[in-house]
Amino acid sequence: MKIRKHLETLPPYTPIEPFEVLSARLGRDPSQIVKLDANENPYGILPSVRAALANMDFPHIYPDPESRALRGALSHFTGVNEKYLLAGSGADELLDLLMRIFLEPGECILSCPPTFGMYPFDAELNGAGCIEVPRKADFTLDMPSILKAVEEFKPKLLFIASPNNPDGSLIQPAVLDELLLLPLLVILDEAYIEFAGEDLGVSISRIREVPMRENLIVLRTFSKWAGLAGLRVGYGAFPEWLMPILWKSKQPYNINVAASVAGTASLANVGELVELVEKIKRERTRLVSALQEIKYLKPYPTQSNFILCQVNGRDAAELKSRLAEEYGVFIRYFNKPGLRDHIRISVGRPQDTDILIKAMKDLSG
Ligand SMILES: Cc1ncc(COP(=O)(O)O)c(C=O)c1O
Repeated sequence: MKIRKHLETLPPYTPIEPFEVLSARLGRDPSQIVKLDANENPYGILPSVRAALANMDFPHIYPDPESRALRGALSHFTGVNEKYLLAGSGADELLDLLMRIFLEPGECILSCPPTFGMYPFDAELNGAGCIEVPRKADFTLDMPSILKAVEEFKPKLLFIASPNNPDGSLIQPAVLDELLLLPLLVILDEAYIEFAGEDLGVSISRIREVPMRENLIVLRTFSKWAGLAGLRVGYGAFPEWLMPILWKSKQPYNINVAASVAGTASLANVGELVELVEKIKRERTRLVSALQEIKYLKPYPTQSNFILCQVNGRDAAELKSRLAEEYGVFIRYFNKPGLRDHIRISVGRPQDTDILIKAMKDLSG
């Protein structure tokens, strides 16, 4: 039986391996693994969230298809009325949902690499294409080339991560304003916004503008700042006209009971999460200084919970694999256009930084 033609040649997305798989593969106890490759929260979930999960009332009953409890809490948290909010099984589900809603075979999205790899992947999965307009060397957007590409290829959707993964830079407000004048939907991916600025990213985020605009979507996630990567909880704010289409296109039970309980309980304890985010930001400062001392690394400025570094004068792939095999330290390695010989390191706990930096120094010689 033939599968759909465009899937025959689609290369698979390479996901990050979880603790238990790494642990089995390396023969190392999970406690001996320093996992700095997927920008997860190293402190895990709050004790109150763990307790809420242990005391779930109705795990045997299908979840609320409208995720009302979670969306109510999100409305309070974001200041956006819940009629504009939709939750997803991670921001990833919402990315795919948008592509499924908007893209006819042969149409395209616009993405500005280096950036999150799921944008082109999901477009191609849905039989569409991705026009790529590379960022400049300092990771800012190349506006003249974006304008040209929009005119020439008429992409329907433009995806911008801010802070951007993998470099951690924010889009300038005036640049976003310019993008919002284009004849397309702008999807602003704020997966890491809580690490930017001083106030969980509140004063930087553009989410509260969504109800006033027709072509801005803001995506968020609990995976990074709230430590729920394994439970898959994301959300987005969407223009009002799009909401009925989203409601009818999503899987009815996309947010499972555990995800909803964990998301709601996290928002009930935002103060504690802020403390963890602040801890991570303090550790980020320490990690940047320590990385600056390693002579073969050039770390870039970041507003997120990861640090991109250029590796100079040595093989970055070998560095990555030696850190993993000899020290149980996992980082992300890139070797693609704009990111030749680069590594991305998630900010961990102080003890994770100590192990990483010692290993990096050992490997200097
Ligand atoms: C920029 C960006 N957007 C979205 C996601 C996906 O988030 P989620 O775990 O909510 O699917 C990630 C995860 O790495 C990301 O880096």
